[in-house]
Amino acid sequence: MEVRVAKSAGFCFGVQRAVDSVYHEIEVNDGKIYTFGPIIHNEQVVNDLQSKGVQVIESEEELEQITDGTVIIRSHGVSRAVYEKILSRGVKIVDATCPFVKKIHNIVDEESLKDREIIIIGNDKHPEVEGIRGWVNGTSFVINDEKQINEKCIPKENKYSLVSQTTFNHNKFKYLVEIMRKKGYDINVVNTICNATNVRQVEAKEIASDVDAMIVIGGKNSSNTQKLVEICSEQCENTFFVQTAADLNAYDLKAFQSIGITAGASTPKNIIEEVHTECQKK
Ligand code: F3S
Repeated sequence: MEVRVAKSAGFCFGVQRAVDSVYHEIEVNDGKIYTFGPIIHNEQVVNDLQSKGVQVIESEEELEQITDGTVIIRSHGVSRAVYEKILSRGVKIVDATCPFVKKIHNIVDEESLKDREIIIIGNDKHPEVEGIRGWVNGTSFVINDEKQINEKCIPKENKYSLVSQTTFNHNKFKYLVEIMRKKGYDINVVNTICNATNVRQVEAKEIASDVDAMIVIGGKNSSNTQKLVEICSEQCENTFFVQTAADLNAYDLKAFQSIGITAGASTPKNIIEEVHTECQKK
């Protein structure tokens, strides 16, 4: 049986880097280690880190109680205020903000000093967007859909620089920018969407169209995993969703000549490898 694993399966570069930096600290650091928020939305990884002594700081109030150790900032990044609060605790900071997100912080910081207000296309409840907003000097607006362009009453007489949450849908971004332009807004657009999600989806589609069965690994509540299942199902009628290698027992894979494997953004490498090994045994 031929088994093909997608190169882009699992963690993107920024998440891998952040998770690696926590494991690195565990190796080299004798003191307390904290992450500001869970490093990734994957229970297994967070539990494993917890068992190795890493604690998750859930709020700024909790942060204020910390007096020593190391605080790791996850790939989403944090606002300037939170960054300064961590600094003020006198702890060591490991900043694992994804460089693509850090670039957005720098853009909004510089642009907002140049007489421009900032528009962020994204979800205002998402920690990445909260972090980006926190680097703006002055006013910022967050827009998630067409309705919000009208609701937010963004003054037409001002000048704006516009950026995007890294995981925003590319077509929706283009559409919203077009609407703002048609409405006559003076906007300097910087497309800051990261390609990782798109690359993962395109590769999954390509592999699924070429194999007899496709396995998608991920958390059951992960929306990007569900999207992968949807994309693969359109190409391959034998698309199976699993959370771990143990779930493969529910399927008779012997019947297939070729199998493809992909995984959602929060699936660790070891789970992908276990599923790969299990498939080869079938
Ligand atoms: Fe991942 Fe960084 Fe892109 S965290 S999705 S590589 S912006």
